[in-house]
Amino acid sequence: MAIYSLFLMTISVFGVSSPCFRNEQSLLLQLKNNLTFNSTMSTKLVKWNQSADCCSWDGVTCNEGRVIGLDLTNESISGGLDNSSSLFSLQHLESLSLAYNDFNYSHEIPSEFDKLANLSYLNLSFAYFTGQIPIAISRLTRLVTLDLSFNDLHLENPNFKVLIQNLSELMELNLDGVLISAPGNEWCRALSSSLPNLRVLSLSYCNLSGPIDSSLRNLHSLSIIRLNDNDFSAPVPEFFADFKNLTSLKVSYSGFDGKFPEKIFQIPTLLTLDLSSNFLLEGSLPEFPPNGSLQTMNLYRTGFSGTLPSSIGNLKMLSTVGLGSCNFIGSIPDSMASLTQLKYLDISNNKFSGSIPNFSMCKNLTTVRLYNNYLSSEIISTQWEKLLNLESLLLGDNLLNGNIPDSLFSHPSLQVLYLSNNQFSGQLKEFSNASSFLEYLFLDNNHLEGPIPMSIFELHGLRWLLLGSNKFNNSLNLSLVI
Ligand SMILES: *[C@@H]1O[C@H](CO)[C@@H](O)[C@H](O)[C@H]1NC(C)=O
Ligand SMILES: *[C@@H]1O[C@H](CO)[C@@H](O)[C@H](O)[C@H]1NC(C)=O
Ligand SMILES: *[C@@H]1O[C@H](CO)[C@@H](O)[C@H](O)[C@H]1NC(C)=O
Ligand SMILES: *[C@@H]1O[C@H](CO)[C@@H](O)[C@H](O)[C@H]1NC(C)=O
Ligand SMILES: *[C@@H]1O[C@H](CO)[C@@H](O)[C@H](O)[C@H]1NC(C)=O
Ligand SMILES: *[C@@H]1O[C@H](CO)[C@@H](O)[C@H](O)[C@H]1NC(C)=O
Ligand SMILES: *[C@@H]1O[C@H](CO)[C@@H](O)[C@H](O)[C@H]1NC(C)=O
Ligand SMILES: *[C@@H]1O[C@H](CO)[C@@H](O)[C@H](O)[C@H]1NC(C)=O
Ligand SMILES: *[C@@H]1O[C@H](CO)[C@@H](O)[C@H](O)[C@H]1NC(C)=O
Ligand SMILES: *[C@@H]1O[C@H](CO)[C@@H](O)[C@H](O)[C@H]1NC(C)=O
Ligand SMILES: *[C@@H]1O[C@H](CO)[C@@H](O)[C@H](O)[C@H]1NC(C)=O
Ligand SMILES: *[C@@H]1O[C@H](CO)[C@@H](O)[C@H](O)[C@H]1NC(C)=O
Repeated sequence: MAIYSLFLMTISVFGVSSPCFRNEQSLLLQLKNNLTFNSTMSTKLVKWNQSADCCSWDGVTCNEGRVIGLDLTNESISGGLDNSSSLFSLQHLESLSLAYNDFNYSHEIPSEFDKLANLSYLNLSFAYFTGQIPIAISRLTRLVTLDLSFNDLHLENPNFKVLIQNLSELMELNLDGVLISAPGNEWCRALSSSLPNLRVLSLSYCNLSGPIDSSLRNLHSLSIIRLNDNDFSAPVPEFFADFKNLTSLKVSYSGFDGKFPEKIFQIPTLLTLDLSSNFLLEGSLPEFPPNGSLQTMNLYRTGFSGTLPSSIGNLKMLSTVGLGSCNFIGSIPDSMASLTQLKYLDISNNKFSGSIPNFSMCKNLTTVRLYNNYLSSEIISTQWEKLLNLESLLLGDNLLNGNIPDSLFSHPSLQVLYLSNNQFSGQLKEFSNASSFLEYLFLDNNHLEGPIPMSIFELHGLRWLLLGSNKFNNSLNLSLVI
């Protein structure tokens, strides 16, 4: 997208002044007449008419009177684009987007696209085209960005290798959802021999297989790698750590196995690492050097194990930490409480023990999932009452003890409070300022005693309330749905 914006900026600086060439204007009007679109939903096409110069129409960009950019994103176009379309006579086009339209899985990509030989940006994502990607696309050798993601497309003839063979200028390739179905040596070698400038590689949901071929290491400029939802059945290669500009690696649910290379965590430019749902992927967390840039670390449902190093506190930019359903042990390092950007913390379903750090400085926390571990501290109200963005606090299935602070019931944003299956004791006091946000309150299976406070019935947003298996002395053993 950044590449595209830069491109548009350049043309808006040099463009605009000259009026639209007559024939370009009539080609655009023919295009409009032949496209099927919903005029209630359209915001650009619907307004195109003779009364104004076509270079001033919404979605049209010109250079010296020639149409060089056409942005028909989200215009509810559902048909009327075939080989004879006047679109393919707009020969000066450099940038075209038909993203977010609805060709209803009943139209193929026309094979006349190769008439647009000057295209450097082509975006057909979420347009619901179907069928084979035509060979015409492989002739657009000036393409810098190609996004065909989320249609119903496949690549057999031409196959992936032939498609990208001559697209050597490409910096951004997004074929998410295109059925490529190629083994590792094939798709990796095709990429590395054809696309030396590639920065963004997005091949999620492509039915790719592994292993990842070492030729891929030649793509030095890779900055974003998305390979999620494939089936590699192979390890993550260590050479990913050599990509000097890597900012994002998303490989969730892609059947990676073996030991994950620790060096990847230490790539200085890395912002996002998503390894989730690679059930057979093993690994442990390394020491983190100071000033780490990582913002998202998602290892949910992997075979990662070992302890969390205290140096995780060096990752000052961390905002999403997903470590749920792994095999971690040991305590939650106190240093995590200094991660002030933290928004989402999930370490549920592990074997963590010891106490919960005081997160009261992490003001941005919205979600805290610590359930199903062996955590055993008292729950301190100041840990949570100052977190004014907190929406979910899930501490159930631990060994937590002490009183439940009533400040939680007047919390200004909390919606879900799950404290079931712990060892909380003492009485629940009556409280004032009952929250109207709290929807789920689960306190069952603890050692709570005394009367159930009537203030609970002033929690007007409450939808679920579980209080069972405690020692409350009201006659009813409440476990009810309101
Ligand atoms: C394609 O267009 C969609 C919708 O505007 C946008 O979200 C996406 O980032 C674009 N793809 C590229 C590679 O620019
Ligand atoms: C156009 O969109 C509007 C608003 O979504 C819808 O009510 C109408 O049925 C659509 N018209 C056609 C012809 O699909
Ligand atoms: C498309 O436009 C509709 C309104 O016409 C808007 O609600 C929707 O968010 C837009 N979708 C995208 C992806 O821009
Ligand atoms: C014709 O185009 C002008 C300028 O873009 C626009 O203001 C006007 O609403 C359009 N007329 C119709 C009937 O769409
Ligand atoms: C426009 O549509 C008409 C009728 O469907 C068709 O005969 C004609 O060839 C089309 N013209 C263009 C330029 O697409
Ligand atoms: C294609 O682009 C090149 C350089 O940007 C330009 O010289 C040439 O005139 C363009 N061709 C067309 C048909 O616009
Ligand atoms: C979309 O395709 C289905 C069949 O594949 C058809 O029944 C439906 O009418 C089509 N919708 C539009 C808007 O063309
Ligand atoms: C365009 O023409 C080719 C033959 O030249 C044909 O195979 C293809 O189906 C046509 N595509 C469309 C979208 O009409
Ligand atoms: C790529 O370019 C070579 C040399 O110009 C040519 O022989 C080949 O047919 C081209 N491949 C495609 C898919 O266009
Ligand atoms: C996915 O790829 C495998 C080969 O790895 C192939 O056997 C299978 O048919 C492909 N699936 C689809 C839906 O094409
Ligand atoms: C990394 O990015 C910088 C700045 O964008 C660029 O100058 C450098 O060439 C890139 N390195 C590689 C290996 O692509
Ligand atoms: C909370 O997030 C905002 C933006 O998302 C950020 O500007 C702010 O610094 C964060 N708060 C803290 C305490 O870090």
